[in-house]
Amino acid sequence: MFRRLRAAGGEVTIHVDGKPVRAAAGDSVAAAMLAAGFTALHSSAVSASPRAPHCMIGNCFECLVEIDGLPDRQACLTTVAEGMQVRRQMDEAPMEGAGV
Ligand code: FES
Repeated sequence: MFRRLRAAGGEVTIHVDGKPVRAAAGDSVAAAMLAAGFTALHSSAVSASPRAPHCMIGNCFECLVEIDGLPDRQACLTTVAEGMQVRRQMDEAPMEGAGV
């Protein structure tokens, strides 16, 4: 479970899979989602296993989500904005021929 270490300087509302989520102004989308209890942001294209943010600095690509209709955005490098629409990219089936 995650908790904030400092007081927020204002709040915005984003929507994750259609659900309203309050976030601190200046949060990354990944931080806001983790604080709201979303641990899996997308699933592996190879195995369809759930994936969670790891590095939070733009290196691992484990935080890919759809933001305002654009897929494969790095949630850790994107700052929340009022009314932002975020969709987790959770595929149900592994990629064909992946051998898993
Ligand atoms: S959490 Fe690693 S690139 Fe976003």
